[in-house]
Amino acid sequence: MTEPRLRIAVQKSGRLADRSGELISGAGLRIIKGANELLYRIENQPIDLLRVRDDDIPTFVADGVAELGIVGYNVLAEHFPDRDLESMIVQRLGFGSCTLKVAVPNDVDYTGPQWLEGKRIATSYPNILGKWLKDHGVTAEIVEMRGAVEVAPRMKIAHAICDLVSTGATLEANGMKATDLVLKSEAVLIKAPHAPAPELAHTYDMLLRRFDGVTASTG
Ligand code: PRP
Ligand code: ZN
Ligand code: MG
Repeated sequence: MTEPRLRIAVQKSGRLADRSGELISGAGLRIIKGANELLYRIENQPIDLLRVRDDDIPTFVADGVAELGIVGYNVLAEHFPDRDLESMIVQRLGFGSCTLKVAVPNDVDYTGPQWLEGKRIATSYPNILGKWLKDHGVTAEIVEMRGAVEVAPRMKIAHAICDLVSTGATLEANGMKATDLVLKSEAVLIKAPHAPAPELAHTYDMLLRRFDGVTASTG
């Protein structure tokens, strides 16, 4: 019989990948890069890393395919707009900070959210943006894009965008300015709805304690 192993879903590459790896190493887990790019083994614990696209992490963890996951709060909030996210979140991890902001071309005389009334807004975050617009009593058309959202105004696909802003370099390079803060985000540790298998309970508890320790000391 093969021994059960705990799974942690992590972003394979991108904004949170490096820091997620550092957190895992910082918790004393020795990662072995295998031939299988999807699954890396931890040498010294019964744990595997499930390396996927960040957008897939909420589903994998909510379905219990992985017991834990490291994901941006922005991705989680977009994926589960109607769920109580706090019950999924084990802890905030103190890295990967970014903001989701509305931005418009520099030459726009932006007067506030009402400026967006009747306009088209490009975003990869239609659920979060939709809620924000509703909260502000604005009716606008959301144009969903998977990437390169920042080019939408120049391409005349949209009047404004709602996208992640970290350094602001992308907005600047595309002649845009941020106007409204829609969501603040950072990496969060999330857990599956059901407890891990009894044989893994000890490993699971140990892992949560260590993550907590690493986050507290780097915090
Ligand atoms: C985000 C966002 C911007 C950029 C903003 O993209 O879509 O393109 O980061 O960061 P900045 O303010 O530091 O320039 P990300 O790198 O997450 O990749 P993606 O667009 O491919 O999802
Ligand atoms: Zn993504
Ligand atoms: Mg981008």
